[in-house]
Amino acid sequence: MAGNEYFGADERKEINDVLETGILFRYNHDAQRNNIWKAREFEAEVAKLVGAKYAHAVSSGSTAVSCALAAAGIGAGDEVIVPPFTYIASVEAVIFAGALPVFAEIDETLCLSAEGIRKAITPKTKAVMLVHMCGQMAQMDEIMEVIKEHNIVLIEDAGQAMAASFKGISTGLYGKTGCYSFDFFKIATAGEGGVFVTNDEAAYKLADSYADHGHDHQGNNRGMENHPIVGFNYRISELHAAVGLAQTRRVPMIREINNKHKKFMMAELGKIAGVSFATIPDADGDSATFLNMFLPNTEAAMKTVDEFNKNGVAGFNYWFTNMYHFINQWNHIKEGKVAARTNVQLLGAPQDYKNLDLPKTQETVGRLISFGIKATWTEQELKDLVAKMTISIKSSMGQTA
Ligand SMILES: Cc1ncc(COP(=O)(O)O)c(C=O)c1O
Repeated sequence: MAGNEYFGADERKEINDVLETGILFRYNHDAQRNNIWKAREFEAEVAKLVGAKYAHAVSSGSTAVSCALAAAGIGAGDEVIVPPFTYIASVEAVIFAGALPVFAEIDETLCLSAEGIRKAITPKTKAVMLVHMCGQMAQMDEIMEVIKEHNIVLIEDAGQAMAASFKGISTGLYGKTGCYSFDFFKIATAGEGGVFVTNDEAAYKLADSYADHGHDHQGNNRGMENHPIVGFNYRISELHAAVGLAQTRRVPMIREINNKHKKFMMAELGKIAGVSFATIPDADGDSATFLNMFLPNTEAAMKTVDEFNKNGVAGFNYWFTNMYHFINQWNHIKEGKVAARTNVQLLGAPQDYKNLDLPKTQETVGRLISFGIKATWTEQELKDLVAKMTISIKSSMGQTA
């Protein structure tokens, strides 16, 4: 699944380059740093991997989402359509931008659907925060149609889907701005880190300044730089960037092995009556970090989870009840529990968050079980896992093995 399966000589070499100069800060110190610029190299490597014109590395995927919102001009009072199935950071970033999250339906891609977006649009809608979930991608053709038709801004949180693409364009690059996470669980990790991407030069310049107290990064006297906008500290350190750089170089290899493993799992598990899989709009563009399996309904999924637990099948997520990725677990959002007032409290929530009507999402996530795919599985480990899964699934649905 993740870069954290691989940590070796390449990561150590990049870190040691930084430690030898002692310059852990990504800017300035030109004379002492011996031409070591890991954050810049990391950005160039990510830009090359995904085909972005511009990439800017920051301290986390969460801060990269904030940069994506700010650089796309989303702020106070703007309604932003968000999915109810995502890592909470996508929603938090909207709230802390001063904007107002509006929840819409997902579909079997596990991402917002064009229909869901269309139904959630109001005269105040400024943007859609499209999250590409579980290593896959949304139905981009239909979604781009709605975006263009309503002249709204698309922002992509591809925190879980770096190296995924739809029709040859990487997730994160359909919108005005996009971002990836490099936390410990992603296809490539920096320990902690994130990368903002765009093909829009003006948006890139805004993100570059926003992530560093508004600095314009011109010249080599930081104290005398201009500040075209107000920003904050979302900087990545050279040490984190060094790890992210080595890990990004591994991504094509990880993606290829993940895809092989996922195809094997889908072929074998797909033979079981009642098992299906999340829709992958472009199978060639899957980053394949997760196998996303559907059972016929929520009850069957819950029974399967019980069987997995009984039979020692590990490495899966049942998001519906277990994880911090689903709206059913977000009581603090529903009840407006905040450290200090946000615009949701000041201006009023655009929806009744406690009584959202999202039947399609409830039904879809209810029957979903996702397995983190490991690139380092041996053939035998993979076969053993699939055999155990098969016994558990069949027994949960009363089928004989
Ligand atoms: C879709 C999505 N967005 C944003 C984030 C936040 O990334 P980070 O953990 O690097 O802050 C995550 C992390 O899991 C994520 O899955």
